[in-house]
Amino acid sequence: MGDLEGKRIVLGVSGGIACYKSADLVRRLMDHGAHVDVVMTQSACQFVSPTTFQALSSGPVYTDLWDRRAPNNMVHINLTRQADLVLIAPASANLMAKLAHGLADDLLSTLCLASQLPLMIAPAMNREMWLAPASVRNVALLRADGVEIIGPGQGAQACGETGDGRMLEPHEIVDAVRAHFQPKILDGLKVLMTAGPTCEPIDPVRVITNRSSGKTGYALAQAARDAGARVTLVSGPTALPCPPGVTRLSVQTALQMHQAVMRHATESDLFIAVAAVADWRVANPTDEKLKKIDTGAPELKFVMNPDILQEVASLAPSPWCVGFAAETSLDLAQLQAKRQRKRISLLIANLAQDVMDSEDTQVQLIDESGSHPLPAGPKIQVARVIITEIARRYRQHQA
Ligand code: CTP
Repeated sequence: MGDLEGKRIVLGVSGGIACYKSADLVRRLMDHGAHVDVVMTQSACQFVSPTTFQALSSGPVYTDLWDRRAPNNMVHINLTRQADLVLIAPASANLMAKLAHGLADDLLSTLCLASQLPLMIAPAMNREMWLAPASVRNVALLRADGVEIIGPGQGAQACGETGDGRMLEPHEIVDAVRAHFQPKILDGLKVLMTAGPTCEPIDPVRVITNRSSGKTGYALAQAARDAGARVTLVSGPTALPCPPGVTRLSVQTALQMHQAVMRHATESDLFIAVAAVADWRVANPTDEKLKKIDTGAPELKFVMNPDILQEVASLAPSPWCVGFAAETSLDLAQLQAKRQRKRISLLIANLAQDVMDSEDTQVQLIDESGSHPLPAGPKIQVARVIITEIARRYRQHQA
């Protein structure tokens, strides 16, 4: 089931070249289960035909305040009464000015004024327009009214200039909409996390590492952020983009990860250790590249890395700690021994061979009462269930 299953979204499209991206946005919202009603301004219709949105949303597109298709002739009322969210993407400078001042001279501005629904807008405009004092004032007014403003992004603009004012990409907007609908069960909490592998140098070009894409850790960071937490993610090297709104501290080695975690541990409410930390590092990495002509097969000496999770869990006071264990076989007695050794009340275990390089995962929660399997699914979906379990246990522990 998609995150937006059963949600009705009124998508307002105002005039700007970014309108073409909103066609993709409609599809992506629907892919996550949303029902989308599209409302276009007259300017938007100059950029993209309503027919495009009609075909994509499989429903009528609304462009006119005086739309006679509605039996009561009140399309500006009808559209929002069954909806859960009004999303405007792109939101032009003109539309934002109208919303900020309560103008209602077309269908989109009128339905916004005539509804108490949450309003989320993705601005798109030339960088000078975005920075203009009037726009800055309007953004402040809209924020004060509780409007959720997402973006704009930065980069090359259709006008040939470069700067702030690009509409966020459709996948980023969908991400924000999905986040909007998540229950804020970690609201106001600081969550510290580790994710990804660590890389332990042998010489300047060779490392010893663990096989970890970081996908589970990043999905959990996103789910914790969506649940209202302030998330700091200490991440080993991965190819993944940092989820917007998450503070990422990038590290390479276990020692660097240890240092970054210890700097933030005492100020955090929760610590979720997902990283595949290398248990050992090479004792004497060389400054120069090893040459096989000199060394043949080198004999490496290893020393233990600090156990980050165990150390954080032993702090007094310590954040509430959760560990992960990717194993090649799941033996409850061994998992319980690991949980106790780490001094944590919750360990989340999975079979490494099942989830490595996969988009899906399946985990079991190991706590003092035993093992509790969760349903398998895409990593973000499982991450949301894990965050729900963590939040519930954390609150119980605090009570
Ligand atoms: N962990 C950590 N620091 C380490 C090793 C592990 O913080 N040096 C954390 C991991 O992020 C994970 C948990 O401890 O949350 C369990 O990791 P795992 O590698 O399964 O445990 P180990 O104690 O290293 O045991 P094993 O011998 O099974 O590798």
